[in-house]
Amino acid sequence: MSVILIVYDSNSNHTRSMAQRVARGVESVAQCEARVRSVAQAGSTSADRAPPVPNSGAPFAELQDLEECDGLILGTPTHFGNMTASLKLFLDSTTSIWMQGKLIGKPAAVFTSTGSMHGGQESTLLSMMLPLLHHGMLITGLPYNLPELSSTTTGGTPYGASHVAGADGERALDDTEALLCTALGERVARIAHTLATAS
Ligand SMILES: Cc1cc2nc3c(=O)[nH]c(=O)nc-3n(C[C@H](O)[C@H](O)[C@H](O)COP(=O)(O)O)c2cc1C
Repeated sequence: MSVILIVYDSNSNHTRSMAQRVARGVESVAQCEARVRSVAQAGSTSADRAPPVPNSGAPFAELQDLEECDGLILGTPTHFGNMTASLKLFLDSTTSIWMQGKLIGKPAAVFTSTGSMHGGQESTLLSMMLPLLHHGMLITGLPYNLPELSSTTTGGTPYGASHVAGADGERALDDTEALLCTALGERVARIAHTLATAS
């Protein structure tokens, strides 16, 4: 089995819903398994003081999850055009993984949820790619042979999957956004499994 690790942060569950759709895409590929993990909240307290298990959502990601994965997909709400502090805090804990080159050559992708349509989806997606490039990962986005990428009037970008939650945060994933989340998971899984079985 090829393991695709999906690590997300989410404060009001939109990004979490995306993670579930991405996982569905991963698991649509034979011999691929989605491992969904969240991150501890940075907030005003140190992550060291976070509860050992989250109050809701997926278990917290551990470095061992990174070691064991064949591909990695990161998701975050957009906070001021960037990934959240909590996801960054987790990524900043991965130095030992970087030093050992554990993620080199593995495929990766990203997704985000924003409040507004032009509130910084692309900049947030790009912000998550930077540490992934330092880790030597092979970044993939969404290709334009997915017709929904051209027809969407909401989320969905070539840089990765995205969702617009609306100013009141009430807007759920629409069918197009959900389909593109699934396509992203499927794409990473196919690439990861091909690479893992070729080596
Ligand atoms: C501190 C903070 C900063 C935010 N910054 C942005 C932003 O720059 N652009 C935007 O469109 N939405 C912004 N939002 C809204 C969130 O991105 C949006 O509500 C998102 O859907 C939340 O995802 P979640 O439910 O996974 O937490 C911000 C929200 C918070 C709390």
